[in-house]
Amino acid sequence: MRRLDLLLANLGYCSRREARDFLKRHAITVKGITARNPADKARAEDVRIDGEPLDHPDGLLLVLNKPTGLVCSHDEREGPRVYDLLPERWRARNPQVTSIGRLDKDTSGLILLTDQTELVHKYTSPKHKVPKLYGATVDRELSPDLVPLFAAGTLLLDGEDTPCAPASLRILDDRRTAELVLTEGKYHQVRRMFAAVGATVLTLHRVQFGKLALGDLVPGAFRPVGESEI
Ligand code: URA
Repeated sequence: MRRLDLLLANLGYCSRREARDFLKRHAITVKGITARNPADKARAEDVRIDGEPLDHPDGLLLVLNKPTGLVCSHDEREGPRVYDLLPERWRARNPQVTSIGRLDKDTSGLILLTDQTELVHKYTSPKHKVPKLYGATVDRELSPDLVPLFAAGTLLLDGEDTPCAPASLRILDDRRTAELVLTEGKYHQVRRMFAAVGATVLTLHRVQFGKLALGDLVPGAFRPVGESEI
């Protein structure tokens, strides 16, 4: 049971201070009985707002097809943010919706967004070794020798003390396009791994995160994920 004003504020419907007014302006019921007092306690599943159940009361988990040009940081000074794509009510939730790991501004593709802090820890922890599949294009032809090199788990990136974990590289026919599966997420890792072998990444797209794929999500589109999907 939680106070109605807290429930509404945490789910982004209004601030706690606005809750009294929100209750006046909307038909809010708890188990079918009209609620007028913001201090009343209720279970989320019993609440209806204008006849509608609460919006994802147990937390959001979204898969977004991130377009290039957006940042995963919350700091507006770093540029337009992935969160700006979300409906206003989701942006007002507390805890706030944040990304699970990050993609660079110039990287596109699959990013998970959630307001469930424990999921952020779960899926970014190196312990879990969630495989992430990237598609990259580079500025030169890649040598087949890179496949065993990336798989060896010995590649040391500039400024790092520990080598990259074994990564699976598949070089495609044109030799300037490759797929890379990583089980960790060092800063700018894909770009730095290719830089370590003399190649510059021109485009980078994350295709898959664990079992999750983008399906038919166009750039900028998102969908809620069932927890059983990951
Ligand atoms: N590796 C990178 O270099 N950039 C990303 O955005 C993700 C992985």
